Amino acid sequence: MSPLIIAIDGPAASGKSTVSRKLAERLGYVHVESGAVYRALTWQLIRDGLAGAAAETIVRHLSKVTLHFFMEHGRLRFTVNAADPEPAIRSLAVQEFVSAVAAIPEARAWVNGHLRGLRRFGNLVMEGRDIGTVVFPQATFKFYLDAEPQERARRRQREQQFSSQDLTASAEVERALLRRDESDQSRPTAPLALAPGAYRIETTHLSVEDVIERILAIISSGRNVCV
Ligand code: DC
Repeated sequence: MSPLIIAIDGPAASGKSTVSRKLAERLGYVHVESGAVYRALTWQLIRDGLAGAAAETIVRHLSKVTLHFFMEHGRLRFTVNAADPEPAIRSLAVQEFVSAVAAIPEARAWVNGHLRGLRRFGNLVMEGRDIGTVVFPQATFKFYLDAEPQERARRRQREQQFSSQDLTASAEVERALLRRDESDQSRPTAPLALAPGAYRIETTHLSVEDVIERILAIISSGRNVCV
């Protein structure tokens, strides 16, 4: 039987990471944060001195980047050129450059090949920007989480305080988020968009638990859109 896939897309800091991780735990599925793969590729490019390099140079370099995925204590982890990319992939340096990398069609195809291969680990909750539109258009359920920019900036700032000291001023966090939204939504290849048949959930005034309950209610009602 082919694995079940739940696609969760949405803009930065829309709550998709926390919701996806907890949803995967509740369902016993493997959680995949596709943004981490874009970030890890970007981190490797920075380490190889290719931050800001021309797209053709980056495309030529893809064959020199090796990802290895594995399960550890029930969680999916991966290395990039044998190194653990966490927590470096959360740094401001990576954040600033990742949208440019994610706009390169060949880089997207390279990431997508890796993401599709993850079905070998079983049922997946995969979060990102184009999971329901491009990576798994045949996903069993598709959700699109959104929230107002100010609320997303607040959420991102709370995360940053735990994971990095790079961004502190809230106005700067909001500006950086909006810049990234703009770039993710306007790129010609696989822009962030509501997938056909996806359920859109506005999370500004909802807790993580509320969002999960809504998703679980839709899943248990069996109103899947694509199969
Ligand atoms: O979800 P995130 O903020 O960690 O994503 C990092 C970047 O990767 C973001 O600029 C958008 C891009 N991305 C993408 O283009 N497609 C995905 N499926 C996931 C992330």
